[in-house]
Amino acid sequence: MIKVGIVGGTGYTGVELLRLLAQHPQAEVAVITSRSEAGVAVADMYPNLRGHYDGLAFSVPDSKALAACDVVFFATPHGVAHALAGELLAAGTKVIDLSADFRLQDAVEWGKWYGQPHGAPELLKDAVYGLPEVNREKIRTARLIAVPGCYPTATQLGLLPLLEAGLADPSRLIADCKSGVSGAGRGAAVGSLFCESGESMKAYAVKGHRHLPEISQGLRQAAGQDIGLTFVPHLTPMIRGIHATLYATVADTSVDLQALFEKRYADEPFVDVMPAGSHPETRSVRGANVCRIAVHRPQGGDLVVVLSVIDNLVKGASGQAVQNLNILFGLDERMGLSHAGLLP
Ligand SMILES: NC(=O)c1ccc[n+]([C@@H]2O[C@H](COP(=O)([O-])OP(=O)(O)OC[C@H]3O[C@@H](n4cnc5c(N)ncnc54)[C@H](OP(=O)(O)O)[C@@H]3O)[C@@H](O)[C@H]2O)c1
Repeated sequence: MIKVGIVGGTGYTGVELLRLLAQHPQAEVAVITSRSEAGVAVADMYPNLRGHYDGLAFSVPDSKALAACDVVFFATPHGVAHALAGELLAAGTKVIDLSADFRLQDAVEWGKWYGQPHGAPELLKDAVYGLPEVNREKIRTARLIAVPGCYPTATQLGLLPLLEAGLADPSRLIADCKSGVSGAGRGAAVGSLFCESGESMKAYAVKGHRHLPEISQGLRQAAGQDIGLTFVPHLTPMIRGIHATLYATVADTSVDLQALFEKRYADEPFVDVMPAGSHPETRSVRGANVCRIAVHRPQGGDLVVVLSVIDNLVKGASGQAVQNLNILFGLDERMGLSHAGLLP
């Protein structure tokens, strides 16, 4: 059994890790931290987990207890993994970080977007960006994984086939993305209140969202050149889900895009290219570690529209983290992750 520690177990990605790991035949959660709920039994806080984690209670983060695990997930705000990852790695514990701490390769750029200096630039050389559809081989031998963000996962998976094939104009990409409210985490915030976010929809961070440099980094790598991206996130009144509507222009309109996407993801267990003409729905991936994609070229023009949906808490966070765990420990990549979405 793989001995697992989770730092930040009371948040939405933390409890989603618990839900997924409860079905995982090779992982056993030994330590789960929360400073505010220390001493509380996991099943008392999250009754959906009753019967799965008997005897397991939240504890304050303790580096010795965490270092005794084979792997530690960080489901914490940015900055926390910076402070603790080095010590764990030195003890031989692998780290899978769901926060943004190690996603950007440029520490100065990270500091610019996160408003504080990077706390562990010396570890960046070890960090592997955990998008299996791009970095599977590097993940296998990594010791520090930076799990991609939710918007970045939906956007990159939607645009990669076009950019890798050199088909899209990389200078004019548009990502128009919608997220459910759980994307903001469990912390109390006025904007997440039911009366503030229900029955309404709005764009935010149009001048620049923290996921912009992360998406740009991945797309630049796929295109092999600089890219220009306009990324506009929106908040929608749903609990889970990301819907990315992606726009790119192509010079060659003779290419069979459906075949291109199907070929690119033919061997990917968690990317589903839908039949031509489809409109993927977020509810079809709710609770599932799947990115569902459809590609369109309206009226046969040169503008390609890609629709990409994920569950922000699963393929956009905790499911992708477990996928990384499986690859890292040489297990079947689908282990504990093969359930279908929850519909209706
Ligand atoms: N929500 C999403 O859809 C999503 C998707 C992808 C990635 N992410 C990223 O995943 C991370 C967690 O997100 P979330 O939505 O689960 O957040 P959250 O609901 O706000 O939970 C944060 C967790 O971290 C703990 N924590 C906070 N400050 C800490 C500190 N200084 N030291 C140790 N533990 C601390 C909290 O527990 P205590 O305060 O009790 O210790 C809590 O359990 C974030 O970096 C987020 O950007 C989130």
